[in-house]
Amino acid sequence: MIQAPRGTYDVLPDDAARREVLEARAAKVLGAAGYRRIETPTFEATELFSRGVGEATDIVRKEMYSFDDGGGRSLTLRPEGTAPVCRAYMEHGMHKLAQPVKLWYLSSFFRAEAPQRGRYRQFWQVGAEAIGSETPETDAELILLLAELLEVLGVGDARLLLSSLGQPETRAEYRDDLRAYLHAHEAELSEDVRERIDLNPMRAFDSSDRGTRAVMAGAPMLLDRLTPEDAEHFARVRELLDDAGLAYELEPTLVRGLDYYTRTLWEFQSSSLGAQSAVGGGGRYDRLIEQLEGPSIPGVGWAAGVERMLMAAGEQPVGTPLVDLYVALAADGGGAVRTGFGLARDARRAGLQAQLELAGRGLKGQLKHADRLKARYVAIVGDRDEVGLKDMESGEQHDTPAANVIPTILRGSRLS
Ligand code: HAM
Repeated sequence: MIQAPRGTYDVLPDDAARREVLEARAAKVLGAAGYRRIETPTFEATELFSRGVGEATDIVRKEMYSFDDGGGRSLTLRPEGTAPVCRAYMEHGMHKLAQPVKLWYLSSFFRAEAPQRGRYRQFWQVGAEAIGSETPETDAELILLLAELLEVLGVGDARLLLSSLGQPETRAEYRDDLRAYLHAHEAELSEDVRERIDLNPMRAFDSSDRGTRAVMAGAPMLLDRLTPEDAEHFARVRELLDDAGLAYELEPTLVRGLDYYTRTLWEFQSSSLGAQSAVGGGGRYDRLIEQLEGPSIPGVGWAAGVERMLMAAGEQPVGTPLVDLYVALAADGGGAVRTGFGLARDARRAGLQAQLELAGRGLKGQLKHADRLKARYVAIVGDRDEVGLKDMESGEQHDTPAANVIPTILRGSRLS
């Protein structure tokens, strides 16, 4: 039997109901702050991501679903949303609008990662981007909005890790210093860290080796090297979060798998998620639009995984759909079917949830099915002019002209 591709899954009706709740809450939290929804194409020119996300990242090197469009052009299923939103911002001249332009999305993304709990090859993100402002208030507001979203979704246990990356030039200089420091302590480092000093010195901070950890405790920190402007910007973001009463942990070695970040960087992690503990994260990307050959326009934003938010929120009960009216057919003659069909349609037009017998069950089976659906009323339509209207709660049944069915149910709804 053909199955869903590895790392993908079906959103079944109960899951879909949970996602609808999530979507409505995201729309409310972000809409209330003036963010407006955007949807970009599922695939984009490959170079948008190689330039935007960065050639050296795992995403671009190993995880992109790229294909030839048949005309010699390489396209890629979007692995993330920030570069596409920046592309759309430029393409539609949004720099002419009042800044910052505040956008949000709920879309699917694709990464060819090794699937595991909380990690899929097609996954969904809620994301928010504010493009065109450099102020620390924009960063702080975005962080607070993500905290608010997690809170209303029931992901109350997430820890906020916060850092600042400064400018790429500061970072390059810092990396040279860190390499020099590591080379000076080579003998005390674990072998794998030693081998990667030149390639990726930052990895030394993640090592669990005792000797390496001791060396790293005295290592230079990027946060201490920020330019005065970047340090001031970061201090202001922290102040605003402090004022808002949002707790965070400074994590000077926080790394995220995207190369476009400058200045503020953050991630929310939930211990209930296991190995894939990042629920959502983001940061500032003041050089991204320039990297995409646009003007120098700053931006900041975040994205949070839908699957991981739902997982961290735990099982939330989903409401079963209401059925106001079940139309049962007591005869299979054309008259009964026509009356029943019309009744169900008119009920829906009147705003009721109405279902019609579609499986050819006998009357007993139909009443049983209506009971299973928890229908409030069943209209039994036969060859006669009148229909039998049964109140499923009281069990009472009376005959009434078909035209009376909907007004009776509507009256009943108003009373209840
Ligand atoms: P990201 O950290 O790569 O950031 O992804 C954001 C979130 O998407 C993660 O925290 C995680 O919850 C979820 N996620 C990522 N990969 C997977 C996967 N394979 N399976 C399930 N969930 C996943 C970005 O994508 C940036 N565009 C965020 C951003 C927006 N930065 C600035 N603006």
